[in-house]
Amino acid sequence: MQKTLILLKPDAVQRRLVGEITRRFEQKGLRLAGLKLVQAPRELAEKHYAVHKGKPFYESLLTFLTSGPTVAMVWEGREAVAACRNLMGVTDGVKAGPGTVRGDLALSVQNNLVHGSDSPENAATEIALWFKPEDLVGYAITDSSWVG
Ligand code: TYD
Repeated sequence: MQKTLILLKPDAVQRRLVGEITRRFEQKGLRLAGLKLVQAPRELAEKHYAVHKGKPFYESLLTFLTSGPTVAMVWEGREAVAACRNLMGVTDGVKAGPGTVRGDLALSVQNNLVHGSDSPENAATEIALWFKPEDLVGYAITDSSWVG
């Protein structure tokens, strides 16, 4: 089963959308494997968004990600990376389709509520940044016959 890192960024916490967004991942059929509230230090934000270093929006993005607590989650399931990216919608809230988190709840490019890993390889790297191995919990879902 594939794992992915999902962050509910500081705007999601500030806007009291943690429950609304988490509900969507849960109802999709994914299994919650890790969950914590983190006030990200700058060093963690830098590592998380290292790929964007040097881009015009980089400093503003780091300021945003460290501006308040973030809910970090690991979700597991069949094709979890793609399933979560589809639930999130594209980066710009204006362009994200209806029915997606960003399409339904965001207007901004930067303040787009949620982060999701974009490949299984990046998911493994990002999960290791935000979680210790012992923070992740494995358990059985007793009736999973409806999950793909
Ligand atoms: P990116 O990894 O391209 O998007 P996604 O979160 O959809 O995987 O960019 C990371 C974050 O950087 C994005 O969620 C919002 C911010 N960002 C900007 O603020 N301005 C931009 O022009 C882009 C491309 C991203």
